[in-house]
Amino acid sequence: MADPKKLFIKTYGCQMNVYDSERMSEAMGGAGYVTTDSPDDADMILLNTCHIREKAAEKVYSELGRFKGLKADKPDLKIGVAGCVAQAEGEEIMRRQPLVDLVVGPQSYHRLPEMEAKTQQGEKALDTDFPEEDKFEKLKSRPKARRAPSAFLTVQEGCDKFCAFCVVPYTRGAEVSRPAERVLAEARDLVERGVAEITLLGQNVNAYHGDAPQGGDWGLARLIRELAEVDGLERIRYTTSHPNDMEDDLIRAHGDCEKLMPYLHLPVQSGSDRILKRMNRSHTAESYLRVIDRIREARPDILLSGDFIVGFPEETDADFEDTLKLVEQVRYGQCYSFKYSTRPGTPAAEREQLPEDVKSERLQRLQALLNQQQAEIQAAMVGREVGVLFEKKGRLPGQMVGKSDHLHAVYVQAPESLLGQVARVRITGTSSNSLAGELI
Ligand code: SAH
Ligand code: SF4
Ligand code: F3S
Repeated sequence: MADPKKLFIKTYGCQMNVYDSERMSEAMGGAGYVTTDSPDDADMILLNTCHIREKAAEKVYSELGRFKGLKADKPDLKIGVAGCVAQAEGEEIMRRQPLVDLVVGPQSYHRLPEMEAKTQQGEKALDTDFPEEDKFEKLKSRPKARRAPSAFLTVQEGCDKFCAFCVVPYTRGAEVSRPAERVLAEARDLVERGVAEITLLGQNVNAYHGDAPQGGDWGLARLIRELAEVDGLERIRYTTSHPNDMEDDLIRAHGDCEKLMPYLHLPVQSGSDRILKRMNRSHTAESYLRVIDRIREARPDILLSGDFIVGFPEETDADFEDTLKLVEQVRYGQCYSFKYSTRPGTPAAEREQLPEDVKSERLQRLQALLNQQQAEIQAAMVGREVGVLFEKKGRLPGQMVGKSDHLHAVYVQAPESLLGQVARVRITGTSSNSLAGELI
């Protein structure tokens, strides 16, 4: 038998892309490929790309340029671009970088094996449709291999919200939810393969409304409650959520569903109502804070995380101060913050832009405050007891690393037999991005 061909996938962007890359490598397994972690010995290189900010998108072209030498040495090497840049730029990619053989948008991944076959005939393959069929259903050929203890599971894709800065509604299309039964079946399969924690993914995961097994539909809270019944599944998380879709039932689930972990990523983007309006966010700073209050009422120890954009068109010093004020009020455990980046085709790209130095200065001030909050919240964990799901060995002898209930990385002296298990740990120390602890 011929040696299997080798596939190298490099993943950029959000967790959704991480999940998609896994599914694509499994689908290509059916077409005779095994994965490799080096581009040098690959027969096919696939970049799974992100279009969210200009820098992310441009990175694709510099990365592609680097494969020139490889392709010269190995003319049979196939190079593909998947993900959100593929969707947004399509043919333009092949025009700008002729060494690309294949371009596939996020909704067409199930067609990847046939597209690869086409490239083997020396043709180029391009597919950026939004087809009717369910790509995940078609991508079903998962081999029954063991999996790491923590896994992603996409339940919802796309976005109908059209924030004025954002490309996602264009690159991922309209909001679609997977039927609940398929999600449950995939979760059971993951658990059989050693998974103890599942993070449900969606661009707006809390807008989930999937067909229910007996007719009608289920929201995210119901889906979580049903998943909690799966034996062997220890922990459930979900990301990313929109403040307007935090329904009562979901907030209640944070209080009464033990397997739902006390961590919530709830982006707000800005603390200024004027800017939120121009961003088309359809919520105010006050309504966001009220949602946070209700969540904390249901689950007082919840750790909150968020996303911020600074330097959005027309953002004044006073608007930015409102953002700092909101951060002071919420007290985040962890956050992502970005300088506004103009994205072609989005409404805000047409507006007058702020100078780069203003954006940089605001980003620095915001990040200083967010880092300080993160450090304070981590310091307050010292002495507390948490659950830790052990995911791998640490760098020191006898050390294991896992994630706490609050998603902190925790380093612990522990036997390897705890891999994939949740154990009780007392936090003993904190450093910039992780905690140290001891088994109880
Ligand atoms: N669906 C999620 C997040 C999607 S994108 C939500 O609604 O919150 C992830 C984050 O990237 C966003 O929350 C935002 O903070 C950031 N982002 C999106 N577009 C951006 C742009 N044009 N410039 C800078 N940051 C952006
Ligand atoms: Fe983008 Fe807004 Fe949709 Fe989030 S809600 S994906 S930020 S358009
Ligand atoms: Fe990027 Fe697409 Fe995710 S633009 S953030 S990879 S949805």
